[in-house]
Amino acid sequence: MKPKYTSLRGVRDILPEEVKSWRRIEDKARELFRRYNYKEIETPIIEPAEMFVRTVGEESDIVRKEMYVFKDRGDRLVALRPEGTAPVVRAFLENNLYVPGKVAKFYYIGDMFRYDRPQAGRQREFHQIGIEALGESSYILDVEVIILLLEFFKELGLNDTILLLNSVGCPKCRSEYSKALREFFTPYLDELCEDCKVRLENNPLRILDCKVEGCKRVVVKAPSILDYLCNDCRVHFENVRSVLDSLDVRYILDTRLVRGLDYYTKTTFEVTVSGLDLSIGGGGRYDGLIKDLGGPDLPGIGFAIGMERLVNILRDRGLLIEEEDVPDYFIIYDVILVTKAIMLSKLLRDQGFIVEISYTAKNLKSQLKEADRSKAKKSIIMREDLLANDKVILKDMTTGEQEEIGLDKLEVSIIGERV
Ligand code: HAM
Repeated sequence: MKPKYTSLRGVRDILPEEVKSWRRIEDKARELFRRYNYKEIETPIIEPAEMFVRTVGEESDIVRKEMYVFKDRGDRLVALRPEGTAPVVRAFLENNLYVPGKVAKFYYIGDMFRYDRPQAGRQREFHQIGIEALGESSYILDVEVIILLLEFFKELGLNDTILLLNSVGCPKCRSEYSKALREFFTPYLDELCEDCKVRLENNPLRILDCKVEGCKRVVVKAPSILDYLCNDCRVHFENVRSVLDSLDVRYILDTRLVRGLDYYTKTTFEVTVSGLDLSIGGGGRYDGLIKDLGGPDLPGIGFAIGMERLVNILRDRGLLIEEEDVPDYFIIYDVILVTKAIMLSKLLRDQGFIVEISYTAKNLKSQLKEADRSKAKKSIIMREDLLANDKVILKDMTTGEQEEIGLDKLEVSIIGERV
C-alpha cells in the first residue's frame, strides 16, 4: 500500500505493540518517582520561543540550529519545546507552586522537538521522561537524583550503565574558566569550526561540547574546569563525589561534560552504556534558572531520559517485553442469535476478558477463519440448536479441541439478561 502522505523526516509512528512496552517503562518510572515523592506535571508543547533562547542559550546548538520556531496567527514567536526543564520552571512560577522550605518535585513524560540530523538515536520528535527538583541546594539532593536515575535503569534490567560526572561551577568560577579557555583556544583558531570561532567570543564552554572532529582534537588538550572551581563549587562537588564513593556508585569523571544547555551550574551528569556514542539520560543542577525566569533565587536540579534511545538499548539486549494482547474469546454465532451474541460479548468484557465478535455473521466456517486471524485463544460457537438447551461450543484455538458446555460454565448468564 502506498499512502498519499508519509510522516515527516525524523518523526515516526509508535505502533501498538511498541506502545505497550513504552507504557510498561513509563509505569516503572511513575512507580519509582512516586516513591521519591515526585508529582507528575504536564506542560504545553508550545511555549514562547524567547524562553528557550534565554535559558538553553543563544549559542547552544538547540537554539541556533534545532529549535522549531514559528509565528502563530497572533504574531507571537512560538517554539515546539526542545526540552522540559524551562517549561516546568515556568509552570512552577506561573502557578505559584513555591512553598518556602519545601522542595518542589516534579516529573514529566512527553515529546520534545529538535531539528536534529535524523540518524540512529536522533529524531526530530523524541520522548523524554524527566524530573525536576526545585528549591534545594544541598549536595545530598544531587546524590539522590543521580541514584534515582541509575535505579530506574536497574529496575529495567540495565545493569551496565556508565555514569559520567562533572561540575561546571557557577557563573563566578565559569568566568575565570572562560577566560582560560579563550586564551587556550585562540592559538588554535584555524583548527576550530566556524561555529566554534563564534563560540570562542561568546561562550567558549560550548566548544567543549562541539561534535566536529577538528574541534574535538583540540578540546582534548584544553584546561579542566575542575581547576577553576570556586571554593563553594569545589566543596559541593567533593561532597557529591565522596557520598557516591561511599555508596559504591561508580562514575567516570569527565571534565569535558558541559552538556548542550547553558543553564547548568555545579554538578552535571550523563548516563550511557558501553559501545553507545550517545547518552540515554542526562541532567544536572541549574541554580540560576528559576531567578532567570523571573522567580526567586532558588536552586534546581533534574534529569531527562531519552525514551527512544532507552527502548533501542533494551530491545538490543532482549530486555524489552514486546507481547501483543490477543483476545481471550472470539464469538461465532448463527445470524439469528445476533442479540444473544452481542449480549454474551458484553458480559464477558464486563468480566475483564478481551472479546472479539464476528461482524459479518456469515456461515460458521468463515467466522472460524476470522477467529483464527484474530489469534483468539478460544472461540465460543453459538448454534441455535445448542443454545435452545443453554449450551455453546467452546473451541480451544491452539489445540483445536472443542467441547459442548453449558453457558453456566462460562460463568455468565445471558438468559434473561439485558444489555
Ligand atoms: P538533554 O541531554 O538535552 O537534556 O536530553 C536528555 C536526553 O534526551 C538525552 O540524554 C537523550 O537520551 C534524549 N535526546 C536528546 N535529543 C534527542 C534526539 N534528537 N533524539 C532522541 N533522543 C534525544 C535535557 O533535555 C535537559 N532538559 C535534562 C535536564 C532536566 N536537565 C535538568 N533537568
